[in-house]
Order: sequence, then C-alpha cells, then structure tokens
Amino acid sequence: MKGKNVLDVGCGTGRYLEVVLKAEPEALVGIDLSEAVYVAAENLLPNNNRLMLLQCDANHLPLPDQVFDFVYSIGVIHHTPDPYKTWKNLVRLVKPGGRFAIWVYGKGRGNRLPSWIPRPIYLYKFLANRIIPSGTMLKIVLSYVPWAIKLNRLPLIGLVTRQLFPVIDYKGRFSLTDEMLIEWACLDTFDCFTPKYARTYSVDEIIGWYKNNGFVDIKVGKHLVSVSGRKL
Ligand SMILES: C[S@@+](CC[C@H](N)C(=O)[O-])C[C@H]1O[C@@H](n2cnc3c(N)ncnc32)[C@H](O)[C@@H]1O
Repeated sequence: MKGKNVLDVGCGTGRYLEVVLKAEPEALVGIDLSEAVYVAAENLLPNNNRLMLLQCDANHLPLPDQVFDFVYSIGVIHHTPDPYKTWKNLVRLVKPGGRFAIWVYGKGRGNRLPSWIPRPIYLYKFLANRIIPSGTMLKIVLSYVPWAIKLNRLPLIGLVTRQLFPVIDYKGRFSLTDEMLIEWACLDTFDCFTPKYARTYSVDEIIGWYKNNGFVDIKVGKHLVSVSGRKL
C-alpha cells in the first residue's frame, strides 16, 4: 500500500488503520458510523498527517468516485441492513485497476458443537439486544474477557468455559502481544453480542458479488470469508 490512496470502511477505533499507516500510504481515509472514530482520531491523528477520519455511513460517503487504489472493509458490511447494497455502494470509490477487499462473517462460524446442544450465547445475545443496556454489556465483557480468555484455552475445562464465557480469541491466528490479544478479544466479543444486523455468507456468495460486478484477479484469504478483487 506504499504510496497508494487507501480507504478503510468501518475503521472502528482504528486497529487496521494503524497497520496500514506502517506501510506508508500516500493518503489513508478511515470512516465509521459510530463514535469509535473519535478514539481512532485521538490515538492516530496527532502523529499522522496522511490520515483523514470521517464519521459517516458507508452507504452515503461524501467522497468522489474512483479515488482509491485500495478499499478494504473488515467486519463491517455484514452489520449493515443490506450488505450487498453497501458493497455495491463502495465499488464506485475504487479506481479502475484498484483493489477492493472485504472480510465478512462466514456461514457456520464457531459451530463446532452439534446444533441440538443449547448454547448460552443465544441467551446472552437476547439479553444484550433486548434487556441489558450496551454500556453495561461492555462493562460485563471488559470484566470477564481477561480471565475467561485464559480459562478457555485450557484443555477439557476450556470446552465448557468457552460455552459459558464466549471470547473471540485470536491467539495463534494473528501475531499480537498478550495485551493486544485481550484488547481485540474485548472488542470482537462485545461486537458479537450486540449488533442489530449480522448476516453470514459462504465464500461462493461473496465471490459472486465480485464476478457479477466485473472484478478480476479475485483472491480468497484464509480467514473466512475474506475476498478481494481488482476492478477493471
Ligand atoms: C466489528 S467493528 C469492526 C471495526 C474495524 N474494522 C476492526 O476490525 O477493528 C464494525 C464497525 O462497523 C461500523 N459500522 C457499522 N455499520 C456501518 C455503516 N453503515 N457505515 C460505517 N460504519 C459502520 C461500526 O460502527 C463498527 O465500528
């Protein structure tokens, strides 16, 4: 991404902005609907004059057509009311020859147990969406994740505690420090309880979006479902 114009759609608090900034893009724009973007601003703007942040909706971006060499959106599109429409709204921003990459929830993610076994997570999701205010839910997640993440990694005991105290744990998947593993776990565990919309997709469905809209050189990443393509 060195020397390129890059857009992060749904940058949240900016963890991937931080990664991309290390690659020295010409310009990096991060947008997010929520106030998380102010956290990104506080952490990243003071030291990065190539970064611009906007709080806005991915479906109504105040940005001109075909300005970005690389557009990416990680863990966002599946949270919008009409994910395919959101994806299509983003295509116009990519320059001809530029790349567009997304990561969305895969079908059947995390389903290692037979489906007939009741899972507490369904109760937690219900409580988080209907009864517990999101501020309280965040406090609950922040208080249990740091110790549950360790319990869940234990053999045998972990099989049970993982059901009782669900944690999104990236150990072994990304090279992160222990502190970052907990921070990412808190963010993504909170996220999995609370979203209003959370669609899941097969790889073929997402590849179809790219093929049907004239993208070439389509690549599928190992973290499902991550797909990128080059716009003609
Ligand atoms: C799971 S977080 C991912 C954040 C970031 N990409 C990351 O991986 O750390 C999903 C983000 O999508 C944002 N989001 C959801 N709907 C959006 C929309 N319509 N436009 C822009 N951002 C949106 C949320 O505010 C949230 O910050």
